[in-house]
Amino acid sequence: MPRETWVLGAASNRFGKMKETGREAASRVALEAIQTAGIEPKDIGYTFVANAFGLAERQAHVGPLINTALGIPEVPSCTIESACSSSSAALHEAYVHVAGGFHDAALVVGVEKLSHLDTLTATSYFAIGADYPFESHNGATFPGLYATIANAHMRRYGTQTEQLGAVAVKNHANAALNPHAHFQKPITMETYLGSPVIASPLRLYDCCPFSDGAAALVVVAAEKFPNPRTEPLVIRASTRAGSIADMHDRPELTGLPASQRASHLAFQQAKVERSQIDFMEVHDCFTIAELVALEDMGFFPRGEAGTATAEGLTARDGKLPVNPSGGLKAKGHPVSATGASQVVEIFEQFNQLAGKRQVPKTGLALAHNVGATGSSASVHIFGRR
Ligand SMILES: CC(C)(COP(=O)(O)OP(=O)(O)OC[C@H]1O[C@@H](n2cnc3c(N)ncnc32)[C@H](O)[C@@H]1OP(=O)(O)O)[C@@H](O)C(=O)NCCC(=O)NCCS
Repeated sequence: MPRETWVLGAASNRFGKMKETGREAASRVALEAIQTAGIEPKDIGYTFVANAFGLAERQAHVGPLINTALGIPEVPSCTIESACSSSSAALHEAYVHVAGGFHDAALVVGVEKLSHLDTLTATSYFAIGADYPFESHNGATFPGLYATIANAHMRRYGTQTEQLGAVAVKNHANAALNPHAHFQKPITMETYLGSPVIASPLRLYDCCPFSDGAAALVVVAAEKFPNPRTEPLVIRASTRAGSIADMHDRPELTGLPASQRASHLAFQQAKVERSQIDFMEVHDCFTIAELVALEDMGFFPRGEAGTATAEGLTARDGKLPVNPSGGLKAKGHPVSATGASQVVEIFEQFNQLAGKRQVPKTGLALAHNVGATGSSASVHIFGRR
């Protein structure tokens, strides 16, 4: 039987443009997460780092640098890479180690710094997360690939531009209340509709930005830390799944099989129903991705998440708040920090630290994180003690 495993501490910096280097930001948020957890660096048994684009700073292998800064150079570390789902993959590895009894406490750190690159260079770096010779080399970028998903969804289900816009307006409104967010300004539907087309049908406000950022989590065995000073997140499920990498080889483009499978396994593992989830953070790298995620995980029937969003069901004060942090769309998307930062948001919500974006119910929450166009996906479900 796996041991009961908690997220005991969590921290994030403000996403956007970082002045400090990735390793500095990573070390700082790691220490903050450890302090929040009320433990000492020496309690950490393993450090799992996510940093897909370290080479953009000419710095790979940041685990030992972080551990040295924390005063624990002897602690083992490794870098986990799973494109945009790198730090949820790192969390999964930490969970496996701690729940499996190999270590009593593990550190998860996700970090990315790319803001010194221009958009074209950053786009070409990101594109290596797709199938390079078949997709990227032929000109497919992530905005283009997700535009293909949006076109398929619109054609099959009649999804409307304004429904995509409703995702953007909602997530920008949430991010405006989040001190960690890249964009802290609400937008209107008029602003959305007036923004330039990036890859038809996706406009500027359908896209996540390029963000720098760092986020860290402390994962512990409950039995070893019996008197937590925070409200820990009990990891009720930690699942990952994959699917065919290339979109041109997939039989269907309106959903991501990896999200479907990872969420199916997660609900089985947690032994809870979808109706019990109080709020969630989902992977909205583009607005269409949020709708597809909600449908893939079974929260809405196929083709109905757009209407539900436009009707306000997924707003902060709606029946099922989705992305109260502002999501990748507006909180920002520093690739390898994203999955961990979703859990930082859930931690802050559980600990009543979310200020004006506090959601009403925080009994059970879900985090969903996708790598590339869904060749990898992670789902975590968190509950209370
Ligand atoms: C959408 C995108 C092409 C815009 O890049 P760009 O045209 O070079 O934009 P710039 O960086 O020059 O910024 C221009 C303005 O738009 C804003 N902006 C940039 N991206 C934005 C976004 N995604 N959402 C909202 N505003 C954005 C900037 O803050 C800036 O505002 P300012 O003029 O008030 O300072 C780029 O953000 C992008 O490619 N995003 C997707 C990243 C991606 O693929 N990630 C992986 C997902 S799987």
